[in-house]
Amino acid sequence: MKRYIIILVVIGALVAGTSLNSCKTAAVISSKSGAQIWGETCIRCHNPADPATFSDLEWDVVAMHMQVRANLTPEETKKVIEFLQSAN
Ligand code: HEC
Repeated sequence: MKRYIIILVVIGALVAGTSLNSCKTAAVISSKSGAQIWGETCIRCHNPADPATFSDLEWDVVAMHMQVRANLTPEETKKVIEFLQSAN
């Protein structure tokens, strides 16, 4: 019985440790600003278009398209869109 409890505690600690770690990674990503994500991500494949190139509506469409290519999360894409639209 005692052994059973120890095993449960160890499993519990492992699960807690893993989920805490994943939260940490998510926090690092979500602390980045739209400008930062744009600067790090959108230059990987092509020269980044100037934020003033497209209208707000056009950036919505472009960013959705590029979300797929750049493999961004919806949250990251939202920040990039807000950054790009803030220049208009
Ligand atoms: C994995 C590569 C890749 C990444 C990362 C990427 N793009 Fe693109 N992008 C492309 C390709 C390829 C095209 C050519 C059009 C297409 O997708 O068919 C393109 C086209 C574009 C265009 C249209 C260019 C024009 O002048 O018509 C814009 C604007 C654009 N990307 C913005 C972005 C933004 C903003 C990001 C960051 C969120 C981004 N891209 C990240 C590959 C990428």
